[in-house]
Amino acid sequence: MPNPSHIIFLASLLYLSSATAAPYTIGVNYGTVADNLPPPPRVASFLKSQTTIDRVKIFDANPDLLRAFADTGIAVTVTVGNGDIPSLSKLPAAQSWISTNILPFHPRTTINRIAVGNEILATSDKSLIAHLLPTMEALHSALSLANITTIQISTPHSLGILSSSEPPSSGRFRRGYDRAIFAPILDFHRKTKSPFMVNPYPFFGFAPETLDYALFRPNGGVLDHATGINYTNMFDAQMDAVFSAMKRVGYDDVEIVVAETGWPSAGDPNQPGASLDNAVSYNGNLIKHVSSGKGTPLMPNRTFEIYIFSLFNENLKPSVSERNYGLFKPDLTPVYDVGVLKNPQALGPTSSTTAEGPSSDSRREWCVARSNVSEEALQKNIDYVCSSGIDCGPISNGGACYDPNDVRSHASYAMNAYYQASDRHDFNCDFNNTGMLTTMDPSYKACTYPSSSIAGQKVGDKPETETGGSIKHEPSLFNTFLILASSCILIFKHFHIIHSII
Ligand SMILES: *[C@@H]1O[C@H](CO)[C@@H](O)[C@H](O)[C@H]1NC(C)=O
Ligand SMILES: *[C@@H]1O[C@H](CO)[C@@H](O)[C@H](O)[C@H]1NC(C)=O
Ligand SMILES: *[C@@H]1O[C@H](CO)[C@@H](O)[C@H](O)[C@H]1NC(C)=O
Ligand SMILES: *[C@@H]1O[C@H](CO)[C@@H](O)[C@H](O)[C@H]1NC(C)=O
Ligand SMILES: *[C@@H]1O[C@H](CO)[C@@H](O)[C@H](O)[C@H]1NC(C)=O
Repeated sequence: MPNPSHIIFLASLLYLSSATAAPYTIGVNYGTVADNLPPPPRVASFLKSQTTIDRVKIFDANPDLLRAFADTGIAVTVTVGNGDIPSLSKLPAAQSWISTNILPFHPRTTINRIAVGNEILATSDKSLIAHLLPTMEALHSALSLANITTIQISTPHSLGILSSSEPPSSGRFRRGYDRAIFAPILDFHRKTKSPFMVNPYPFFGFAPETLDYALFRPNGGVLDHATGINYTNMFDAQMDAVFSAMKRVGYDDVEIVVAETGWPSAGDPNQPGASLDNAVSYNGNLIKHVSSGKGTPLMPNRTFEIYIFSLFNENLKPSVSERNYGLFKPDLTPVYDVGVLKNPQALGPTSSTTAEGPSSDSRREWCVARSNVSEEALQKNIDYVCSSGIDCGPISNGGACYDPNDVRSHASYAMNAYYQASDRHDFNCDFNNTGMLTTMDPSYKACTYPSSSIAGQKVGDKPETETGGSIKHEPSLFNTFLILASSCILIFKHFHIIHSII
């Protein structure tokens, strides 16, 4: 029952969200060092329909990823590989790179920025460092010549570019780089109205006694004696150190974008800071902090565009902590929620009690291709399914699921169609260990993957399409019946499994 204090609470929530909604956005780094990630179109459709994430940064210019974000409105920052920097410092090469990697996708894919390499100064590679700014300039000219004015050029830096960062007001660029490298780069940013990009990681900066300070938890603060500012979190301190360094060379008017920051949810035994609780605290508090519009002590009221590292846990990274920076698991379930889910309860274990949740309903399952299997094996699955009487029209030329026209995507469609048409036993999705079940609807755009709730089409449930929630399903007696019926079947199923284990 609503009571007056609830109404006041709701009203202030609404007020807060409308007051802070406009300028802030949450981005993620979409890294792909893994062999079990979902196909890019499914990732794009998931981010768009299920999360408030409205921008991604990728570590290359992979055409499959760029194509996947077409018409989603999700902005994409693409990266020029470090090794490509020297060869792109001349205009013709830069033009050719733009024609190959940008023009085929722009503007259907909203490319907001090109990151020229990653943490180039940290490589100490003289050739890369010397060619960095010339390549940024050449790519900028190439975009201008193609009449593209909406794509910025920048390059992300690690905080290793600072020789001093504590206290924040003492922040300065490394001697030798300050005037020779950073002043000209910042001048380019000022002239082209592009941001200076940095990768601050309090995870690499805390000591046991400053863990709370690094995680935005209550703590005693750290006083900057020079300014009298009492810093209450390490993120602000790191950002202000960067700001102080920029100011020292005369460019404090250039915007700063946080190209990477994050915290691992698991680590090796000798990394006590890496834990689920700490990752939730850091990323959750960070998002609240940057979206509050408070800014930092030296940059009051500024909002920063930030890209959390990272979207997925990536299983081929070398160490435990590096494999556990993700907000999501490869099956698109959250590792934890830091407030980026549009419909949090739909993804939780309680989803069977809600009548909504168009695409993550735990009562429904789809069969898709595993990402680590060969195209050859997947082509065999397509051939098998499509010659077994299943309708493969949707993946034929002109069909709703023809694009993207690749074996992996077509195989998932065919394997799911087969699974749904058979008895939906787990082994109907095995395909010699090349298929797997997911509770995330793989449908995208006009391509609908058929599904049935466990209660089944037998009782008249019609397959729903992922419409981004434009159709609202009101709870009804009929739905309640379906939920009850499927809960009973789930309980029965579990009982059966437990029984057979015993
Ligand atoms: C860019 O715009 C100018 C002026 O509108 C036009 O003459 C030129 O052909 C355009 N270049 C390209 C590559 O579209
Ligand atoms: C800094 O702020 C913290 C948290 O508000 C407080 O506990 C601490 O006493 C302050 N330190 C100084 C020197 O003002
Ligand atoms: C920041 O916002 C506050 C509250 O709106 C305002 O009082 C203050 O003057 C602003 N500071 C700057 C530097 O704009
Ligand atoms: C793919 O991954 C699954 C699950 O991790 C594993 O069982 C399977 O053997 C792998 N297949 C290949 C070809 O690596
Ligand atoms: C299943 O896979 C194994 C090894 O990958 C292969 O030897 C076997 O022939 C496959 N079976 C079928 C029916 O494709």
